[in-house]
Amino acid sequence: MSKWVEGTVVKLRRWTDKLYSLQLTADIVPFTAGQFTRLAMDIDGERVARPYSFVNGPDNPLLEFYFIIVTDGPLTHHLINLEAGDPVFIAPRGAGFFVLDEVPEADTLWMLSTGTAIGPFLSILNTDVVWQRYKKIVLVHAVRTREELTYHEEIEALLAAHPEQLQMIAFVSREDAGLAIQGRVPDAIENGALEARAGIPLMAGTSQVMICGNPGMVRDTSAVLEARGMKKNKRREPGHITTEQYWKDTD
Ligand SMILES: Cc1cc2nc3c(=O)[nH]c(=O)nc-3n(C[C@H](O)[C@H](O)[C@H](O)COP(=O)(O)OP(=O)(O)OC[C@H]3O[C@@H](n4cnc5c(N)ncnc54)[C@H](O)[C@@H]3O)c2cc1C
Ligand SMILES: NC(=O)c1ccc[n+]([C@@H]2O[C@H](COP(=O)([O-])OP(=O)(O)OC[C@H]3O[C@@H](n4cnc5c(N)ncnc54)[C@H](OP(=O)(O)O)[C@@H]3O)[C@@H](O)[C@H]2O)c1
Repeated sequence: MSKWVEGTVVKLRRWTDKLYSLQLTADIVPFTAGQFTRLAMDIDGERVARPYSFVNGPDNPLLEFYFIIVTDGPLTHHLINLEAGDPVFIAPRGAGFFVLDEVPEADTLWMLSTGTAIGPFLSILNTDVVWQRYKKIVLVHAVRTREELTYHEEIEALLAAHPEQLQMIAFVSREDAGLAIQGRVPDAIENGALEARAGIPLMAGTSQVMICGNPGMVRDTSAVLEARGMKKNKRREPGHITTEQYWKDTD
């Protein structure tokens, strides 16, 4: 199979002046929820490719990717110029291990995301298996401003379909938070605010935690969980924490 498949843009959803979702169709190999693929465009004679997590569930043929325009980022500025009918290159196979097969069973699955990293969790929540494996699921979306709390309709539909099982907890860090928790996820774990809001203990015996997005958040959240006796999941040594970061930690 060739390295790239040519997909066709169906729609570019605009959430804010920085946040967009690209919907496209393409003849790709089935992927596992939580995985990413690569999107590419030819820019100034060069093919520029970057990894993006699938937002759609694996059974949905309308592929969706949620991204933020990064200042001086080579690809994202071009992705927002795409229109319905335009071609876009996509790697035909999903990749990565941020998938439920790598996460042991538990009573509660905590899904902790910053910014665009809510995407892989929406994909996982659009499978049957996640609802069979975990009694409770807590989806956390941490953003800078309230307008960045996107995908309301999709989340409302999931909450309506699984009212006893699913909770959604939002964090807003840089303005009045309204109904969301003010601040950052690791602080709210350390001071008990996240568990208090969920009404569920976050502890090794009963919880699995998936963390995705900003590498600083992944690092700091892993550290507070490790201080509570939770450990990273390894194939030969199951633990409680499974992570994926969207860029390299420079701190
Ligand atoms: C496994 C994996 C999955 C990814 N999935 C997504 C996704 O679903 N949605 C998405 O928006 N990005 C995702 N990314 C990041 C994405 O691949 C690009 O790096 C990003 O879209 C910027 O591309 P760029 O060419 O404009 O700039 P780049 O040169 O790739 O990035 C420049 C800098 O921008 C910052 N940055 C990159 N991505 C983000 C981001 N998402 N949020 C905040 N700051 C960022 C970092 O500081 C990075 O060094 C993923 C990355 C990895 C490794
Ligand atoms: N969102 C915007 O309006 C905006 C504007 C200009 C540029 N950008 C650029 O766009 C990119 C993505 O922005 P984004 O807003 O999606 O993502 P982001 O910067 O990763 O912020 C998302 C959330 O993660 C939190 N966070 C950051 N570091 C953390 C840590 N170590 N521990 C716990 N939580 C942490 C942030 O809190 P804090 O707010 O406390 O950091 C915020 O609530 C960045 O490269 C940024 O430079 C974004």
